[in-house]
Amino acid sequence: SKMLYNGQIMERDNVIDIEDRGYQFGDGIYEVMGVYNGKPLMMDEHMERLERSAREIRLTLPASTKVLKNNLEKLVEVNELKEGIIYMQVSRGIASREHGFPDSKTPAITVAYTREEERESDVEDQGATAILAEDIRWLRCDIKTLNLLPNVMAKQKAVENNAVEAILHRGDTVTEASASNVFIVKDGELYTHPADNYILNGITRRKIIQICNNELNINVHEQMYTVDDLLHADEVFISATKLDIIPILKIDDQTIGRGKPGEITKQILQHFRSLYE
Ligand code: PDD
Repeated sequence: SKMLYNGQIMERDNVIDIEDRGYQFGDGIYEVMGVYNGKPLMMDEHMERLERSAREIRLTLPASTKVLKNNLEKLVEVNELKEGIIYMQVSRGIASREHGFPDSKTPAITVAYTREEERESDVEDQGATAILAEDIRWLRCDIKTLNLLPNVMAKQKAVENNAVEAILHRGDTVTEASASNVFIVKDGELYTHPADNYILNGITRRKIIQICNNELNINVHEQMYTVDDLLHADEVFISATKLDIIPILKIDDQTIGRGKPGEITKQILQHFRSLYE
């Protein structure tokens, strides 16, 4: 399939320079966008977050988000992608390896490609298990940077335990998961970590909060909660692009609620699906 390289659609090829700062330092940012029935979902929100990430690491995007969005839509079209994701990253460019930024004439490098991916409807309906892992990441988890080694290590631990995710905690406080946000339900109300520097403010997360406020009349508390609150919640679910919403039925050895997908989780999932079905 085709890829996007600095605004140009070309054959997917080995184009990464060994002195690309994304490759050497993880010095760059990225976005993953879901494509449903040939249409990217919530693209504007993803572009806005990309802009914010760029600003926070002092990276100048090589094109306006309007142009980037147009190019990504073109890529989806030429690849005839129906179900899957768009991956896009912007690195601080190619320059002789020095930790400090290259001079201002060095342009950022944008690459994007698409991948076909089936929807995880079965897991969404049936739920899955998760494990706990200590959150050892830096203190700017709000930036969607290419530096994902702590996330990779946590997810691998989940994989080795046949779990769908590693739910991260800093001491007693639950933050998010290795590649998704975490929600708990207690007495009919939702709790999720506030969108500060300790978590990535997920696009799916924001949509879920909107759905609860505007459509379902469910109270959402963006506040910190503990590992103990998590393990004794009525319902737990995770959220991320394309994975959407997955009920968590067991964490380590602890069964959550009745060990079945909860009613509130199912309602939210149903409303979320109506965004693309
Ligand atoms: N991950 N938290 C982390 C650490 C994430 O990596 C992600 C997404 C999310 C959910 O964000 P969103 O709803 O905007 O996808 C939360 C993407 C999918 C990834 O790295 O593959």
